[in-house]
Amino acid sequence: MPRGIFVTGTGTEVGKSVVAAVLARTLASEGLRVSVFKPAVTGLEEEGESDPALLRRASGSSQSDEQIAPYRYGPPASPHLAAALAGEEIEPERLRSAARAAAEGADAIVCEGVGGLMVPLSPGYLVRDLAADLGHPLLVVASPGLGTINHTLLTVEAARAAGLEVAAVVLNPWPQDPDEIERSNRETIAALAGVEVLTLPRLDLADPRSWPPFSPPTGRKPLT
Ligand SMILES: Nc1ncnc2c1ncn2[C@@H]1O[C@H](COP(=O)(O)OP(=O)(O)OP(=O)(O)O)[C@@H](O)[C@H]1O
Ligand SMILES: [Mg+2]
Repeated sequence: MPRGIFVTGTGTEVGKSVVAAVLARTLASEGLRVSVFKPAVTGLEEEGESDPALLRRASGSSQSDEQIAPYRYGPPASPHLAAALAGEEIEPERLRSAARAAAEGADAIVCEGVGGLMVPLSPGYLVRDLAADLGHPLLVVASPGLGTINHTLLTVEAARAAGLEVAAVVLNPWPQDPDEIERSNRETIAALAGVEVLTLPRLDLADPRSWPPFSPPTGRKPLT
């Protein structure tokens, strides 16, 4: 396997795709061949750029939608439910082999989870199980504001309980002028979780050239 990272978060819509995209672009701009992977994408019937499309655009990869995300569904539901509504079940082995295929020929792979760590991909196989099977360190994306200490510590604890390594927490979008709560949240999470807490500002997603470089620490398995 090439070097990789698994971007998870405290929940849906916290900015996993944006963090994964900025990381993928940073690695690609360093000259690495970057693959991207998302086990399942739901909500494709909704407006806007899909996660696979954003990840492909950011990484410069030529992977197809299917190579990036082997399971793709229209309804904005949990993947296990979206699959059931389509009359199928997500197969862990197909996810693992698709992730291996995506990584082939790449120098680095950036994986994005679905929702948070405890989201079922199938009734008996959570995003956390896939993260453990892939073996990459985690980036945990979280909101900067009120409520984030609890959500982030729960996520870090759930990760560590399964033997997963948390490379860093990323507070996103980090305001230009953070208030006292946001600054305190950053320090409190770092202290209580014993993890580095990085930040990513609000970006113009349409213009990747304006994105700042983003290189998190990746613990035992350095990404670059
Ligand atoms: N740093 C940022 N700069 C600009 N927009 C952002 C930023 N972070 C998040 N957003 C916006 O917030 C929304 C949610 O972000 P994103 O899609 O990355 O979340 P997600 O955790 O990947 O969600 P999902 O669970 O659906 O995969 C998107 O509309 C995205 O464009
Ligand atoms: Mg996403």
